Amino acid sequence: MRARYDDVATEYDEWVGAGSALDDSTFTELTGDVASYRHGDAHTLDGLLADSFDGVVCHMSLMDIPDLDQALDSMARVLKPGGWYVVSITHPCFKTPATGDIVDHVDKSVRRTVGKYFVEGYWDGPGAHRDALPVGAYHRTLSTYLNTLNAAGLVIDQLREPRGDTPVWRTVPQLLYIRGHLPA
Ligand SMILES: C[S@@+](CC[C@H](N)C(=O)[O-])C[C@H]1O[C@@H](n2cnc3c(N)ncnc32)[C@H](O)[C@@H]1O
Repeated sequence: MRARYDDVATEYDEWVGAGSALDDSTFTELTGDVASYRHGDAHTLDGLLADSFDGVVCHMSLMDIPDLDQALDSMARVLKPGGWYVVSITHPCFKTPATGDIVDHVDKSVRRTVGKYFVEGYWDGPGAHRDALPVGAYHRTLSTYLNTLNAAGLVIDQLREPRGDTPVWRTVPQLLYIRGHLPA
């Protein structure tokens, strides 16, 4: 995958000490060869012409973008008919405004606890996540994501829920990847 980072992506990597789209093997399997990144507001994608891109990626960002309808409408606007898209998000079923992990005292297995699934909107509750990701996010249900993609005219071709490498993320998916296309 060839790509050029913009300053924002580079700073973000340094800030969280985590990988980016380029280091995410599930994402790069779905996107293939991405030529470049552009810097701008995902709500409008101002300055980008309609029907002008073969593909659009949105890596780990939709849950941070306030207006999902606008962002997906803009993705659909700039895609050429038949163009592909890939988005990745924290899994909306397992990363909600009230989640945690518990350890079974008998066999020491770890389970994810999930609450407030139906409470959509911005959340920034106290908790351990603040050290790693000191920002809030916009929670939406799975049906909101899928129905909003549908409303934007973006067809879903493939979902992926890779197994993580920590005890809890080996049992439920931390991330959700969606690949699809704009009908020709
Ligand atoms: C979790 S970070 C992911 C960054 C990068 N895509 C990566 O994977 O390393 C979420 C990003 O969404 C960006 N973001 C939030 N609202 C945005 C908007 N309206 N337009 C463009 N980016 C936005 C934030 O600036 C932040 O960099």
